[in-house]
Amino acid sequence: MMKLWSGRFEKETDNLVEELNASIGFDRRLYREDIAGSMAHAKMLGTCGIISPEDTAAILGGLESILGDIEAGKIQFTTENEDIHMNVEALLTARIGAAGKRLHTARSRNDQVALDLRMYVRVHIPIIVDRLLYLETVLCKQAKQYQTAVMPGYTHLQRAQPISFAQHLMAYGNMFSRDVKRLEDCAKRLNECPLGSGALAGTTYPIDRWQTAKALGFDAPMSNSLDGVSDRDYVLELLSALSILMMHLSRFSEEIILWCSWEFKFIELDDAYATGSSIMPQKKNPDVAELVRGKTGRVYGNLMSLLTTMKGLPLAYNKDMQEDKEPVFDAIDTVEMCLPVFAAMLDTMTVRTDNMRKAAGRGFINATDCADYLTKKGMPFRDAYAVTGRLVAHCTAQGKTLEELTTAELKAFSGLFEEDVYEAINLENSMALRGSYGGPAVEETTRQIESIEDFVKARRQEESLCHPEKTNQ
Ligand code: ARG
Repeated sequence: MMKLWSGRFEKETDNLVEELNASIGFDRRLYREDIAGSMAHAKMLGTCGIISPEDTAAILGGLESILGDIEAGKIQFTTENEDIHMNVEALLTARIGAAGKRLHTARSRNDQVALDLRMYVRVHIPIIVDRLLYLETVLCKQAKQYQTAVMPGYTHLQRAQPISFAQHLMAYGNMFSRDVKRLEDCAKRLNECPLGSGALAGTTYPIDRWQTAKALGFDAPMSNSLDGVSDRDYVLELLSALSILMMHLSRFSEEIILWCSWEFKFIELDDAYATGSSIMPQKKNPDVAELVRGKTGRVYGNLMSLLTTMKGLPLAYNKDMQEDKEPVFDAIDTVEMCLPVFAAMLDTMTVRTDNMRKAAGRGFINATDCADYLTKKGMPFRDAYAVTGRLVAHCTAQGKTLEELTTAELKAFSGLFEEDVYEAINLENSMALRGSYGGPAVEETTRQIESIEDFVKARRQEESLCHPEKTNQ
């Protein structure tokens, strides 16, 4: 078959080269963006008098019918036409004849693909943000129920100090808010239009880049045509933001997996979000959390893959850049799949506050409170720390907890101990009194939950302002 670009060639492309070269297998998913970009381009060519009104109308009609046929599943793309851009153009010319051949005036596939991918990323950021906001809503709902549920907080995976389950959940709530902000930031920065950069050096036609930029919802055209076709920063920013987001989900997954184990049993997953073993009848496995943790690796891989592809590429477009699409599609698909399942898993889990409390009771997580007690009675903190350390060693040897020691036993370590020590080292009190900003005390977790709810609400409101039909439903 004759290639669109076959003019200067005497031989046909080798079959293997054709296979290597073709990207239609994966870039077909850009068809909507490609057609929207072509329509804006054709309209601009018309307004600027570069093509006739008749040709403009024919192109627009043709593109619309192609869009409809693609959506209806009636179109067979071909590898001979390499990519989505040439497939659409070939279909157009087959349908409307000569006018179709005018569409590519003052344009190159280099600015075309740069535009399509940018628009694709721009469509998906709000979808991911929406899923993150839903996850945050689930976290707030769960946190509200567990503000007084004492659990051991860990450092080095060793029981450290008492926290509430609500505070633990809100830690993730804050991470997800930052993920949202990173994505919003990326969306803001990417919103400049590369169309009109041409192959790399702009064009001699009197095009209006502001018109196409505006028609396609961009803030402005990109300022430099070389940069316009070469820039993939926004994909890397997205992949970085998604990698960090997956890192958060993965840490959370790791904790879910631990909490589901018999060693912890802090939570139980709903049957719908767990799986069994083909051989061990007793097993209920946290596969969702494991898969999310596992898929984090592929999202990081996608980021590394594109960073490596871009490293060392001279300006402007190089075919290497065709390799940008699969990593970004895969990362977007992965994140979009993981978020709702993860949220539903959290929404339906059963929290075993009894086991959390039991675990909190062992491991001397009130030792800091004991040292603080002595400090408040006048002992320098370092000395109080040493006394408490000796007490812990004593308790460990006796198989006791600090609160199980009598005042007489305590006094043997320091004369400062009195009856009120039991109040001070009581875990519920210890948690309730940690009212410093950001701490686990109920007033503080209430503030944290509200602030995340406000964060979500502000975005939901903005969203409904942008889409008034959503509010009417
Ligand atoms: N399929 C190509 C890509 O994805 C489109 C741009 C082709 N440009 C070129 N000069 N061969 O990057």
